[in-house]
Amino acid sequence: MGYVDLHSHVLFGLDDGAPDRATSLAMLDALASLGVSEQCVTPHQKASQYLPAWEAIETTFAALEALRKPHHPTLRLAAENMWDDVFHGRILSNTIPRYRGSQAFLVEIPPSLMPPNLADQLFKLTRTGSVPVLAHPERYQALWDNDELARSLRRVCAFQIDLPALAGFHGRREAKQARHLVEIGLAATVATDAHQVGDVQQSAQGLTWIDKKLGHATTVRLFDHAPRAILAGDLPD
Ligand SMILES: [Fe+2]
Repeated sequence: MGYVDLHSHVLFGLDDGAPDRATSLAMLDALASLGVSEQCVTPHQKASQYLPAWEAIETTFAALEALRKPHHPTLRLAAENMWDDVFHGRILSNTIPRYRGSQAFLVEIPPSLMPPNLADQLFKLTRTGSVPVLAHPERYQALWDNDELARSLRRVCAFQIDLPALAGFHGRREAKQARHLVEIGLAATVATDAHQVGDVQQSAQGLTWIDKKLGHATTVRLFDHAPRAILAGDLPD
């Protein structure tokens, strides 16, 4: 057993994450040292920026599986879906790229623009058994100083806080919000969102912050029990 990381850009050559095989393997070394036993790999699916073809993602996933060493975490394929037209088409055709073998999927929204129908659409998805995981809610400006909105959104998705943000590496306001969401219990889970080896080292500092502030049992809940529950199809309270 070990930690389960729901968000990373470990797959090489697909987006702004690992550029090559060597970096992917160095990241897996670092993630193993962090205590991660299952690594979800979530390349961007973002129409305006990074939209690698699914065949390319599958090919890269298979290549990394073949290179993976025994001490590395196991890999689970998924994607980081941007809330855009491509994603909405996939909702309609029931082809959202989910965590493989799970009803859960990872989704992000633009930091400065809260989609007006977000909660309604996510609610509809939960009604059909899906478990939406909202990536890095600490970035979303509409939630800053609006716990009421955060609470209503949290009822229809699992909030995934970025560990480097908790340690202050994603900006001062983001750090304040990441810590706030963890402290008031709205964070469902934490993840590295690793794009490079340095992000894994920053994530270690995020785990240390949780350990010191809320105790190791909270770290285990957020980075082990909760992500396992999410992958099993549960939306944590
Ligand atoms: Fe990401």
